[in-house]
Amino acid sequence: MPLRERYTGLINHYRDRLPVDENTRLISLGEGNTPLIKLNNIPALIGKKVDIYVKYEGLNPTGSFKDRGMTMAVTKAVEEGSRAIICASTGNTSAAAAAYAARAGITAFVLIPEGKIALGKLAQAMMHGAVVIQIKGNFDDGMRLVKEVAEHAPVTIVNSINPYRLQGQKTAAFEIVEELGRAPDYHCLPVGNAGNITAHWIGYCEYSSASGDHVTAACAFCNGECKFARGAVVDNRPKMVGYQAAGSAPFMRGEMVDNPDTVATAIRIGHPQSWDMAWKVKEESGGWFDECTDEEILAAQKLLTEHEGIFCEPASATSLAGAMRDIKSGKIPEGSSVVCTLTGHGLKDPDTAIKQSTAPLLTVEATLDSVKSAILDNMS
Ligand code: F0G
Repeated sequence: MPLRERYTGLINHYRDRLPVDENTRLISLGEGNTPLIKLNNIPALIGKKVDIYVKYEGLNPTGSFKDRGMTMAVTKAVEEGSRAIICASTGNTSAAAAAYAARAGITAFVLIPEGKIALGKLAQAMMHGAVVIQIKGNFDDGMRLVKEVAEHAPVTIVNSINPYRLQGQKTAAFEIVEELGRAPDYHCLPVGNAGNITAHWIGYCEYSSASGDHVTAACAFCNGECKFARGAVVDNRPKMVGYQAAGSAPFMRGEMVDNPDTVATAIRIGHPQSWDMAWKVKEESGGWFDECTDEEILAAQKLLTEHEGIFCEPASATSLAGAMRDIKSGKIPEGSSVVCTLTGHGLKDPDTAIKQSTAPLLTVEATLDSVKSAILDNMS
């Protein structure tokens, strides 16, 4: 008899809130159940009394939150008889699609912007055996092409326009509510296509009496009549705050951006797919959108690695960069509880990390004397 129940992934864990039944074959890699880590040092560094938690989604099986949506999307694709999936991606979706397709024994086609995805993500897609199609264009071009090609070929789209993706991703909000005993006051996320901020809101609504018996947010899956909602548990919902990279910030411009650019390649998106839903989330939750410069994003990434021991990729650090600014200014008041989602692991993008690292990389002779002096010279 095992000493504790084996965790076998988020669909099994939340099966009464997800569109599956007892006959559904689950395609899972044990995703979800990620740590919610309370920051020890950063609140003091910024001189404010707030509880900041990071939801470390980089600890999912392929290193990003995409696994939550992909387990659902691939499970349903297989259930519906699909033999192939397709996505456009800035990297993480392609890594997750490739892995879950491998698990299911089906084919993944992934369209990525040539030269604009982090190395780790490319390695994942290639190693899992996806058909990788690099396009001489950006993510938004890829998304347009995927939608077009899916009308002519027997492939299931697994971008977040696939409603099952948001259903899987909403479970991150469930985990947070269960762990804190209530919803946080603020939930900060990096925003690209805006699928994840929408999915979190669906999750919080399903867990809250504030939204009545069922989801009031624009649930792409059920149009607000979610038969999978289990009913209210807590009576609050967070303000949802979405941060974009300044060079790719259509929500700040109030219109689509044609040539997005940022060091945070994961959110280098000018034409968000969940545009209307994300505006609705902002309105319903009383939150806001804002933007962070590349410098702010990289500084937050570094602060987190150096002062908390947590390594996330640049796009993920956008949530903390924005939250820190809003905490400092008082827009997020002292006494608040704040959750920042760290969407992807820092190992995804080693090039950017090494480029901005200032830690000394010492090379010395293989002798006791040289190693000893290297240590003594660098004692802090
Ligand atoms: N953070 C990371 C690390 C991401 O990879 C993405 C999106 C986001 C944030 C934004 O999430 O699109 O739901 O608002 N990456 C997609 C991809 C586009 O292809 O991997 P969103």
